[in-house]
Amino acid sequence: MEEKSKMQTEKHLTGTLVLSVFTAVLGFFQFGYSLGVINAPQKVIEAHYGRVLGIIPLDGHATNTSREDGTDPQAGTKGTLAPLADTSEDLATSSHILTMYWSLSVSVFAVGGMVSSFTVGWIGDRLGRVKAMLVVNVLSIAGNLLMGLAKFGPSHILIIAGRAVTGLYCGLSSGLVPMYVSEVSPTALRGALGTLHQLAIVTGILISQVLGLDFLLGNDEMWPLLLGLSGMAALLQFFLLLLCPESPRYLYIKLGKVEEAKRNLKRLRGNCDPMKEIAEMEKEKQEAVSEKKVSIRQLFTSSKYRQAVIVALMVQISQQFSGINAIFYYSTNIFERAGVDQPVYATIGVGVVNTVFTVISVFLVEKAGRRSLFLAGLMGMLISAVAMTVGLVLLSQFAWMSYVSMIAIFLFVIFFEVGPGPIPWFIVAELFSQGPRPAAIAVAGFCNWACNFIVGMCFQYIADLCGPYVFAIFAALLLLFFLFAYFKVPETKGKSFEEIAAVFRRKKLSAKAMTELQDLRATEEA
Ligand code: GLC
Repeated sequence: MEEKSKMQTEKHLTGTLVLSVFTAVLGFFQFGYSLGVINAPQKVIEAHYGRVLGIIPLDGHATNTSREDGTDPQAGTKGTLAPLADTSEDLATSSHILTMYWSLSVSVFAVGGMVSSFTVGWIGDRLGRVKAMLVVNVLSIAGNLLMGLAKFGPSHILIIAGRAVTGLYCGLSSGLVPMYVSEVSPTALRGALGTLHQLAIVTGILISQVLGLDFLLGNDEMWPLLLGLSGMAALLQFFLLLLCPESPRYLYIKLGKVEEAKRNLKRLRGNCDPMKEIAEMEKEKQEAVSEKKVSIRQLFTSSKYRQAVIVALMVQISQQFSGINAIFYYSTNIFERAGVDQPVYATIGVGVVNTVFTVISVFLVEKAGRRSLFLAGLMGMLISAVAMTVGLVLLSQFAWMSYVSMIAIFLFVIFFEVGPGPIPWFIVAELFSQGPRPAAIAVAGFCNWACNFIVGMCFQYIADLCGPYVFAIFAALLLLFFLFAYFKVPETKGKSFEEIAAVFRRKKLSAKAMTELQDLRATEEA
């Protein structure tokens, strides 16, 4: 009974905790918005590029039927240009130039993310989590201004520069936010609050998809506003951050500011006794002292971290090479084949399903545990990928197979959001103690961005090469990821950072910790 009320206090959401987490995940909202925003207005912006570059598109006001990543499913058949010169060779060159500028506008975002994700640990430790998030907002505001004002200059250059700078912001944010959220959350809520990263991403994607409809902002007049709008979220985050307490873990462990840490913990936890958490931090601090500072190089060279690093990287690779973003790219194409008149609405349907199931996983993650959800998600995605392949391969024989593919796409997205979507974003912070955490988050973030970039760049070529079998590749990869996760990914639910680190160090958990863990599980199940 007493245990139960203790758990309830531990799960207590205070106003300050809600504000802090909400403010932090605004960074992920911007990440999702930037990811999805480039999709819908592709045709109108390309038309604008065409005019700026002196390549006049005939269908400059074409409606939006583009894919999630903004690349064109019909690339190569772009017969809608009327270049200044009229030979077919010039037409091909013009089309090629536009495709190049567009691909660059899309993918430079991930390059920005890749570059800056490496500096996350350094900035987070140097400035503190809150100040770091505050400062990097400048990048977001600058990037969004560049895009919002793109019509007043060489638009293609301004958009590419704006996307690169926004990418820099998102790369930093994708490390700093999980770092902060995991550090301010009580252990019992860490998973659920961690899932909010993904929820913020998918909400950002969905809102950008909806606003991108041509009768809203995805038209020739409004696209600069559409592209620059997430600057508003940056401004909001900037002001709200001024009200957020610095992470007590950072204050206590990194700076040794015990009193300030206690004060902030009280603000975050309300009336509950901070001593238990302080004791946990003290333990972590002792470990950190004995561990010394861990650099990225040490993370790879020290055998102590090897297992955890492999797991951290593999979960990122699994998330991206599961093919989720490829699904987004390919969905419009399949919806078109299934005879859907407005594939953009079907894509929004995917966005809605994506969001709904992310919400569900917020509740699932503290009940079922990360490992089981991750495994279940991968298995579900594997089966969906097989179904999708069957649907695509047999499409020429049976028209109704397109519906099989369609349902498979929705299921694929649903299973992604059950585990492989949200979990990688917060599990890395859980896998490492304070010493190696910043370096680990930086490396994992870089890996996620790099894989995102690779899928974004290569999918079209592989799809052209493999035709309907392209998802068989993802199915095979998913099987590998499932097997890896089954044998290597530990359960982190309900464990303190130190207990998780101990699992990797193959240290035997102390009898006391084991009893505590069992008590915790028993009370959670009760
Ligand atoms: C995850 C991935 C991101 C993907 C999104 C889809 O956040 O990191 O690349 O687009 O899920 O919901």
